[in-house]
Amino acid sequence: MITRCQRGVAILGIGSHVPDRVMSNDEIATMVDTSDEWISQRTGIRERRIAADNEGTARLGAEAARAALEDARVHPGSIDLIVTATASPDYYFPATASLIGTEIGAGKAAGYDLSAACTGFIYALAQGYAQIASGMADTVLVVGAEVFSRLLDWSDRSTCILFGDGAGAVVLGRHDSTGGMLGFELGADGEGAGLLSVPAAGNAPTKGEAPYVQMNGPEVYKFATHVVVESAGRCLDAAGLAVSDVDLFLPHQANQRIIDHAARRLGIPDERVFCNVASYGNTSAASIPLGLDEAYRAGAVGVGDTILMVGFGGGLAWGSCVMEWTKER
Ligand code: ACO
Repeated sequence: MITRCQRGVAILGIGSHVPDRVMSNDEIATMVDTSDEWISQRTGIRERRIAADNEGTARLGAEAARAALEDARVHPGSIDLIVTATASPDYYFPATASLIGTEIGAGKAAGYDLSAACTGFIYALAQGYAQIASGMADTVLVVGAEVFSRLLDWSDRSTCILFGDGAGAVVLGRHDSTGGMLGFELGADGEGAGLLSVPAAGNAPTKGEAPYVQMNGPEVYKFATHVVVESAGRCLDAAGLAVSDVDLFLPHQANQRIIDHAARRLGIPDERVFCNVASYGNTSAASIPLGLDEAYRAGAVGVGDTILMVGFGGGLAWGSCVMEWTKER
């Protein structure tokens, strides 16, 4: 699905939140047969954050949402809709969005969760854009929140080294002058569903299996390296932009090697590529808003900058969004 955005919709505010607890590669090496050297060379990850027993996905998401609302100077009572991208909700139902709404005082805002694994935030952003552009909503809170540490088999060294917990959120609203969302490209291919999955209650063949991440790492790696480049190209084309227009490239933070490979193939120089995978690992649907918030707070994003974000993962799904940043700090 390729979209050239026709209506002015922009990020009014952004925030993020991660648990305090840091888990280093050395600590993981006390649990499974691995090493800091192997993990950092193959993935670029040095450490990740792990939620405390009393921290759930809705709680992390609510903290990020509060920060985004404060940044936007928007009262929670004026939110029309909350869309939460998560693959690790607190419950199958109620929706995490509903819990976040209550925690932040969003009154009776509508809310639902969206499942597209690591591509979830880009899908949720597209939902927010569409709801505002169509006139169904004026103000939408989009949250990416995950507690992936509870979806991991901590005796499986091929997956437990990769993921971490965290949340990021943006407030979307109308923007009447130029800028804001410019284009999207979204896709999914269930042929690759078995390469990366977490079985759930409705899955007859795996009934009774523990709900842990199962992944064919090398195949997902191959998929990621080509889909990021292809999706980014289609998204830029939709918006009538070229790679040389991109001021900040923010791909899903799964593996430093995937990021480097994609940036090289696209021809984006290192100084325009955002990376924080070393500090947080793969936080799934939280990774892009967490990175965007970090870049914004570090002053690496300014008004008028063109930002290209690309997500990929379970589905197999992918999605890109290009936007012009409009928010003064
Ligand atoms: N420590 C030490 N050795 C390990 C570890 C580990 N943690 N994990 C695997 N190995 C071993 C394997 O057993 C294998 O040993 P062998 O050669 O003796 O058989 C060797 O290392 C190589 O294993 P590979 O799986 O081929 O390693 P690879 O270089 O592909 O790296 C990795 C694995 C990091 C998982 C990589 O494949 C990858 O990043 N894949 C993409 C994952 C991803 O991006 N997921 C994103 C989407 S997530 C989402 O949507 C939820």
